[in-house]
Amino acid sequence: MTRYSRVIGTGGYLPEEVRTNEQISQTVDTSDSWIIERTGIKSRRIAGADETASSMAEIAARQAIAAANCDPEEIDLIIVATGTPDRVYPSTGCLLQRRLGIKNCVAFDVQAACSGSIFALSIADQYIKSGAAKKVLVVGSEICSRLVDWTDRGTCILFGDGAGAVLLGASDDAGILSTHIHSDGEYEELLYCPNPQVAIEANKDEAGYIKMRGNEVFKVAVNTLGRIVDETLAANNMQQSDVDWLVPHQANTRIIAATAKKLKMSMNNVILTLENQGNTSSASVLLALNEGIRDGRIQRGQVVLLEAFGAGFTWGSALIKY
Ligand code: ACO
Repeated sequence: MTRYSRVIGTGGYLPEEVRTNEQISQTVDTSDSWIIERTGIKSRRIAGADETASSMAEIAARQAIAAANCDPEEIDLIIVATGTPDRVYPSTGCLLQRRLGIKNCVAFDVQAACSGSIFALSIADQYIKSGAAKKVLVVGSEICSRLVDWTDRGTCILFGDGAGAVLLGASDDAGILSTHIHSDGEYEELLYCPNPQVAIEANKDEAGYIKMRGNEVFKVAVNTLGRIVDETLAANNMQQSDVDWLVPHQANTRIIAATAKKLKMSMNNVILTLENQGNTSSASVLLALNEGIRDGRIQRGQVVLLEAFGAGFTWGSALIKY
């Protein structure tokens, strides 16, 4: 009998502080209408000074564990996707393990920028399908606001903070149907974040802020996400009409609309959170999944396509029967 990874609980956390487009337009040369028209974003959340990726991950994780009615000690593996870890090491996964008080499990981080949660889901699925793990906690947690140069209007309008979590359990009933992950390291210059402290001498003067050639990233993202829709459907012998929900990475409404069009799907079947969250990098897909499940739009038995694209470039998808 095939062994599947089934979604048994989800959770999410958004910090309290709201930063609106209006507020940003008081410090850089932009406007609420430009940001809404070009991105779909109206506001984003900003983590408090005492918050970290692991503190936000803990809140989202506890929600997912409670939703699954699971004893945390049953969790075999914790995978945290983050580009903003509390420390270089220990991993945010280990810090989360400690916060959750779980003694007997393995914990580590994955770094795939905005595609991190899809990469983490893919790894989790391999562990469950192979029988190496029965319950896996996957969390995406990001404090993007601390990697953003708030004087750069090309990036500071886009990003926000938050954490999303999903608990996967081994099941005989269908869950994750397939995952597809890809990388192409050729595109470093289009989107990167320097790490001055460990950079070679020639690069030490670069500030540790996100640097992005947005328009070029945009074009590659639209094409690549179109291809991953085809790849995912073909791998499952499915048609566009077999997919009930699209849960995309929340980078830009225009990128998401292009993917929905590829699926011949109405925007009513897309879980959109970016309006009030912005791009929360590896947290965004899991935050959107959590929202769609908790508000009752995504129902058991429905087919859900998760997808993301990010620095690297990295991109991927997960097709799930919820
Ligand atoms: N306000 C007003 N004008 C602006 C702003 C702003 N915030 N930003 C740029 N502009 C101007 C530009 O200077 C340019 O002016 P010009 O025509 O006089 O030269 C004009 O607007 C158009 O600029 P573009 O960069 O072509 O604008 P575009 O429509 O591409 O939108 C955006 C920019 C929103 C950044 C878009 O390109 C985008 O969303 N890119 C993809 C981002 C993404 O998906 N990243 C991957 C995930 S992130 C990760 O992995 C960490």
